[in-house]
Amino acid sequence: MRVVVGTRNAHKIEELQQILSPLLPGVELVPAAGDAPDEDGTTFYDNALIKARAAHAESGLPSVADDSGLEVSALEGAPGIHSARYSPSGLDADNTALVLSRMAGHDDRAAEFVCAAAYVTDRGEYVIERRWAGTLALEPSGGGGFGYDPIFIPEGRSVTAAQLSAHDKNDVSHRGKAFRALAELMATLPRS
Ligand code: IMP
Repeated sequence: MRVVVGTRNAHKIEELQQILSPLLPGVELVPAAGDAPDEDGTTFYDNALIKARAAHAESGLPSVADDSGLEVSALEGAPGIHSARYSPSGLDADNTALVLSRMAGHDDRAAEFVCAAAYVTDRGEYVIERRWAGTLALEPSGGGGFGYDPIFIPEGRSVTAAQLSAHDKNDVSHRGKAFRALAELMATLPRS
């Protein structure tokens, strides 16, 4: 089964392959071609659907996409859907530095990763959203993962997400949970 992935983020494609392969044996993930659509939705749910719809329209194949980000309580949910481009450069290191600088003086360091996972075929559209709770570290640590992983300490852990193995992260992460639930749904649907 070929499934197009509506993302240009190589890290995400890698994570998705690891998450989906055991649940959908034989699934081949193909990166979307063409320009990325404008993510002009106001929610993770809307933006995931925009990306999966665009990949489906362009390829004619069943397509998945996710939209994800970090919500920080003390920052009223920021960076939220703007996580990828929170700082002017949009670089991971600048985005994390900006979050940490805006957290100065806040005692409440609660944060959650959110992932909306969308699946679009000729027959229908499906979206599943999952969360991963934790707190923000005082400074970045760890070399794994991507994005805000070096400053996110998952609930029940004493290390950052960037210090977890890829396998351990996928087991508990927002993206792991959302795509495992989506894969279970996909397995019950006709393959068209
Ligand atoms: P998207 O590609 O538009 O969904 O943007 C997602 C952005 O949210 C990424 O560029 C990261 O900054 C952040 N993000 C989402 N998921 C993760 C994760 O698992 N770890 C770290 N950062 C993440």
